[in-house]
Amino acid sequence: MDWVERERKALIQFYLRKKVVFERGDGCWLYDVDGKKYLDMVAGIATVSIGHSHPLFIERVSEQLKKLIHVSNLYYTIPQIQLAEKLKEISGMDKFFFCNSGTEAVEGALKFARKITGKKKFLAFTGSFHGRTLGSLSVTHKEKFRKPFEPLLDSEFAEYNNPDLGKFMNNNLAAVILEPVLGEAGVFPAKKEFLKEIFRLRDEYGFVVIFDEVQTGFGRTGRWFAKDHHGFKPDIMTMAKAMGSGFPIGGIGVTEEVAEKLAAGEHGSTFGGNVLASSASLATIEIIEKENLVENSEKMGKYLVKRLEGLSIVESIRGLGLMVGAKVENSPKLVEKALNKGLVLNNTSEDALRFVPPLVIDKEEIDYCIEILNSI
Ligand SMILES: Cc1ncc(COP(=O)(O)O)c(C=O)c1O
Repeated sequence: MDWVERERKALIQFYLRKKVVFERGDGCWLYDVDGKKYLDMVAGIATVSIGHSHPLFIERVSEQLKKLIHVSNLYYTIPQIQLAEKLKEISGMDKFFFCNSGTEAVEGALKFARKITGKKKFLAFTGSFHGRTLGSLSVTHKEKFRKPFEPLLDSEFAEYNNPDLGKFMNNNLAAVILEPVLGEAGVFPAKKEFLKEIFRLRDEYGFVVIFDEVQTGFGRTGRWFAKDHHGFKPDIMTMAKAMGSGFPIGGIGVTEEVAEKLAAGEHGSTFGGNVLASSASLATIEIIEKENLVENSEKMGKYLVKRLEGLSIVESIRGLGLMVGAKVENSPKLVEKALNKGLVLNNTSEDALRFVPPLVIDKEEIDYCIEILNSI
């Protein structure tokens, strides 16, 4: 059965997929249709943080599946309320809205910013990736993604990590949106001075600050959220990816001041935060807490960096926790070779690898990854 050929005939060809058909997973390991085993250093792009097929996750989601899947947001449901309460505790944001993906979370955040400021423009940064819908695409930097779909929303791009932002300031700026660690651009953490200046300008010009934590949230960087490395509280924060360990759910966290200016009917979603998705997210958080995965992310992230430093193919390394970028030569070729040897890697550009494995990874698994990279 040629699944690659069947895919080509039945799906729009947006993805340049690697030639492997995965069938099942267990912890940090994936198995293809022929039963070949792979170490997963990608985790569905920073998503399956608790590892594949986690028994407690299966138990919790199965329990909910048997009771109730969906009733819409016309009614109250307990897991959604419990999830919002839990997120208040771990994120420090005050109120939440739930959706189904990262791009939807950004889309909502941009709408909220316009509504509460009465202003129209957005400032984003070089290297940013915020999603593919028209609003989020407007603040995504890559020309190739944006160009075919213009005109988009009114936005400008300043240099990431450069605090000299004066010339981008104006009285029509609704929001400054940024990733606290640039993800798709190859893992570059924001500097404290840069963030400090953004918050200073916010107080002067009256825009809102949106932190896009879609990729950095839920322990990925060795803190619950990447914002916690520097202690800044954004007005709006987006989240998705690891929020449901692969079950589609996204969220927007806001401050009390933002929430007060948003009214009934101004935003909504049929599926957003439905009973099953909320229970998947609650189970994810429960497992992250029980297994100390935020701490493990920091510890194993340091170990991974240390081991990568010893490799001759690695020119330089950057990152936070288990979100690590490495400069290498010809990364697509490395990814291809690694896959043949049973190692799933991801490259964000022609010269960079991104390591975002499940947060349950241990030293032996990291050693296995290094062993394969050493043999290439
Ligand atoms: C920082 C960031 N924001 C938004 C998105 C879009 O998320 P989704 O693919 O779930 O729409 C991504 C996806 O990679 C991301 O990394």
